[in-house]
Amino acid sequence: MTRYARRVTGLAPSGVRKWFEGAGPGSINLTLGQPDFDTPAHIKEAACRALAEGKTGYTPNVGIPELREAIVEKTRRENGVDYTPDQVMVTAGASEALLLAMLAIVDDGDRVLHADPAFVSYASLASLAGGRPEGLALDDRLRIDVEAAKEQIDGAKLLVINSPSNPTGSVEPAGSVKALVEYAADAGTTVISDEVYEHFVYDGVTAVSAARFGENVVTINATSKTYAMTGWRLGYAVLPTPEEAQIFKTLNVNIISCTPPFIQLAGQEAIENPALTPIVADMVRQFEQRAEYVVQALNAIPGVTCAQPKGAFYVFPNIGGMIEKLGVLEAYASLPKDKQEKTSPSTMFQLFALYKHSVATMDRNSFGKLGTEGRHYLRLSTATDLESLKEGVRRMTAAGADRAGFAEYFKRGEHLGW
Ligand SMILES: Cc1ncc(COP(=O)(O)O)c(C=O)c1O
Repeated sequence: MTRYARRVTGLAPSGVRKWFEGAGPGSINLTLGQPDFDTPAHIKEAACRALAEGKTGYTPNVGIPELREAIVEKTRRENGVDYTPDQVMVTAGASEALLLAMLAIVDDGDRVLHADPAFVSYASLASLAGGRPEGLALDDRLRIDVEAAKEQIDGAKLLVINSPSNPTGSVEPAGSVKALVEYAADAGTTVISDEVYEHFVYDGVTAVSAARFGENVVTINATSKTYAMTGWRLGYAVLPTPEEAQIFKTLNVNIISCTPPFIQLAGQEAIENPALTPIVADMVRQFEQRAEYVVQALNAIPGVTCAQPKGAFYVFPNIGGMIEKLGVLEAYASLPKDKQEKTSPSTMFQLFALYKHSVATMDRNSFGKLGTEGRHYLRLSTATDLESLKEGVRRMTAAGADRAGFAEYFKRGEHLGW
């Protein structure tokens, strides 16, 4: 067999996919981070028009000028930051923008800071680029503890901010973003601001763009979540200078060259057409209503506490009390150290709920390990229709009360995370 490079053999599989694969027929899936809505018709029509017009060849490596103009205009209008099109790099989703940023900025051994828990790719891509990912602790409201973060920023190459956050649904207040960006600027640390959930904010909260507070910010965004376009693979990075955009371009030439022209034109339609505004607003309102329902239903489960998310489309309940009653903590404590290291109490509950009660959720440990000791969370995606959410929470409640079932499951020793 080919001897594969350490950079890939060390990569963790995506937790979402791993658990998704374990779900049997009839399972309720509350794991996926993609809107359960179809891409709006205007956007599809724009792609079809572009195809009919023969827009099928390579494009400039940085993206077509019309889309970059639209991104500049959007950034001015919605984010209050002025750029020129030569600072914009169009990518295949936010994922490619993150990859380019890590490859372009991180040298061997560089420290890359991100919240813990966070979107899994930050740590994976930082490692892939040769860097050392490092978690930042969150406060009780699941937001970055700014004072603690400052102590880690000195000497770090990169700081990733993701607000609204996957997986916690929290939104960083403007004051925190400003303090982090300014402190990072003084320390010579570049900030990556991943704003893919910027439109998903609730309860009158707004998410502020980090680039408003300094010139050391690379903003990453995508049409994926806002316009229900996850499969289209369209994103972008906005760089502090045109020269930096050229560095991203040179990398992109060697990776995917460009994103398809008809996809870029569809993205331009999404960003520019005002008819999309009420469609997006309606989707956001539905997510908010679902979150209200789920949070209330989760808080009704004995031993579960769940805060109302301020953004994104996830709820992040603390299930500590419930799994204690269920006997999970005791079972975990009885495990030998090597098994304990491979699993966690929330992982054990999550797998029990998946395999015995047919409801798929994500465990806290899929998003990092910092501060997990004694704190047990799950992530549930509200990008799921209300009926499925209701049934999912009903199954979670049943799993949480099934002490005998858990004891039996634990005795069998299968699917417990090691
Ligand atoms: C925080 C965050 N950033 C980036 C991405 C990737 O987005 P894309 O599908 O545009 O690559 C995701 C997807 O779940 C995400 O949650």
